[in-house]
Amino acid sequence: MLKAITRKSTKIRKMKGLILSGGHGTRLRPITYSQQKQLIPIANKPILFYCIEDLINAGIKKIGIIVGPNKEQVMDTVRSINWDADIEFIYQEAPAGLAHAVKISKNFLGEDKFIMYLGDNILKGGITNFVKDFVNTEVEASLLLTRVDNPEQYGVALVDEQKKIIIKLLEKPKNPPSNLSIVGIYGLTPVIFRAIDNIKPSWRGELEITDALHWLIEENYRVRYDLVNGWWKDTGTPETILDANRLILDSIKIENKGTTENSELNGKVEVGEKTLIKESIINGPVIIGKECIISKSYIGPYTSIGDNCQLINTKVEDSVIMERTKIINTGKIVKSLIGKEVNIEKNDQSSDIKKFVIGDNSELKL
Ligand code: TTP
Repeated sequence: MLKAITRKSTKIRKMKGLILSGGHGTRLRPITYSQQKQLIPIANKPILFYCIEDLINAGIKKIGIIVGPNKEQVMDTVRSINWDADIEFIYQEAPAGLAHAVKISKNFLGEDKFIMYLGDNILKGGITNFVKDFVNTEVEASLLLTRVDNPEQYGVALVDEQKKIIIKLLEKPKNPPSNLSIVGIYGLTPVIFRAIDNIKPSWRGELEITDALHWLIEENYRVRYDLVNGWWKDTGTPETILDANRLILDSIKIENKGTTENSELNGKVEVGEKTLIKESIINGPVIIGKECIISKSYIGPYTSIGDNCQLINTKVEDSVIMERTKIINTGKIVKSLIGKEVNIEKNDQSSDIKKFVIGDNSELKL
């Protein structure tokens, strides 16, 4: 028997959004020593902004953002934009799990239905249809699922396709019962607080949202699902940041607000104000921020270059380069994630000697 009565007793007034922008982002070190993961730019825009935009586009006007390490940085970056929504920040002292983040947001969420959006996830198709379905269906939770090639590495859902409900959730199963993986966007109702009160921290010491959802299923609450429309990426590693960058760059527009001298711009290339491109070839899709100097260089497909960068006598392809970075006289750089204010320079072209000042957990492939 489904617990429909519980549903009726829940006062659902309006929908809120909860974005998780805490966590240590250890898989993205050393970038995340100085920068919160969700602020890493994809096509020159912080990942977090794509999440905020998705919620606003789905009609959600009250958004809570969980902040943890580097909280000032996240708050300042979000506040630099005049969003068409009320945004509140909720401080999580330690990254004690996704369900912990929900638990500490109880005052903000109140009795409303809400969408929890992991701040490092990026979706092409947005969440408008998912939110619409969730608003219109009488369920206690709704998950977005996507088909994956390697389900044993994900949280996997066993579903009843006729009823469109989830029957079972399994974390990284050895023998996956389906190839449907949970993505980081969840439709939840206040009953989730009861579920969280009934779970214990996992072996890694975190309150897991999958355990709370599992509790709902076991207690016969209805957990429905929708399938992702288009692509979805969890940008937890350098490789997935580059994947997401490629996917987003595929849909940029051609726009040149800079100045070009003796240069070739081919395909989709977006150039910011006061950027000078001289004696260079740019093969799109490529985005270059404002006030950059690109000289005697080749910038190949799927590259994003932040504001105030200088690339001189250099070749770069399939990379993300963050603001105020200088790359001079190097050979070809590919598939690289390069942080802010980095200097890469080769002075003596004939010498084989290299000199480094590199932070902990850096990765160099020479
Ligand atoms: P994860 O990617 O699971 O964790 P993480 O960001 O700390 O990264 P890593 O595993 O490389 O150390 O987190 C998913 C999202 O949820 C991400 O946007 C961070 C956020 N998060 C919180 O806000 N609070 C938390 O307690 C946890 C665990 C994650």
